[in-house]
Amino acid sequence: MGKNIAGETVNDRGGRELRVAVVTVSDKGAAGERRDDSGDLLEKLLLDFGAAHVSRAIVPDELPRIAAVLSSLCEHERSQLVITNGGTGLGPRDVTPEATLEVIDREAPGIAEAIRARSIEITPRGMLSRAVCGVCRDTLIINFPGSPRACEECFGVIRPVLGHALDLLAGRGRECGRG
Ligand code: MTE
Repeated sequence: MGKNIAGETVNDRGGRELRVAVVTVSDKGAAGERRDDSGDLLEKLLLDFGAAHVSRAIVPDELPRIAAVLSSLCEHERSQLVITNGGTGLGPRDVTPEATLEVIDREAPGIAEAIRARSIEITPRGMLSRAVCGVCRDTLIINFPGSPRACEECFGVIRPVLGHALDLLAGRGRECGRG
């Protein structure tokens, strides 16, 4: 551990310490009527993955509120990765993908496609998620469905490529040979 030229804490690979955020999108969660089990699980999975810091937020299914939280995590907190959970389905209040599209500069459709493809192998209901992924400045935002089981399954899909994806975003991953 040390500091880079910008004064950021860096890890032993010379990269910034991994700062990630978990945003749970749920009316009931935001009202304190439901425990954030999916957020707890994702926090654990991310710490096991090597995150140095996991920040958490719970927001209701309201597009402007979701977009405001996502943009603040990208612009002020400089999280390298934000995983949302919930609000990706077909319900009238499911607007997480629209909020994400409002904030990102570039889509990363392959990640959403891979998650959906694997999810449909597990359950046909996987096709009901409209999740999107993309990059806002140098932050990768990935939508997951809301249930803890779906979060675990979806994390299993991205885990093998997450390190390389974050290296690329940080301008470190030019060698794209298969790892
Ligand atoms: N993907 C995986 N891997 N596992 C699941 O259990 N549930 C599906 C789908 N994707 C599921 C999944 C269901 S039932 C729905 S309705 C959609 O995700 C959207 O979920 P959300 O509205 O909680 O985001």
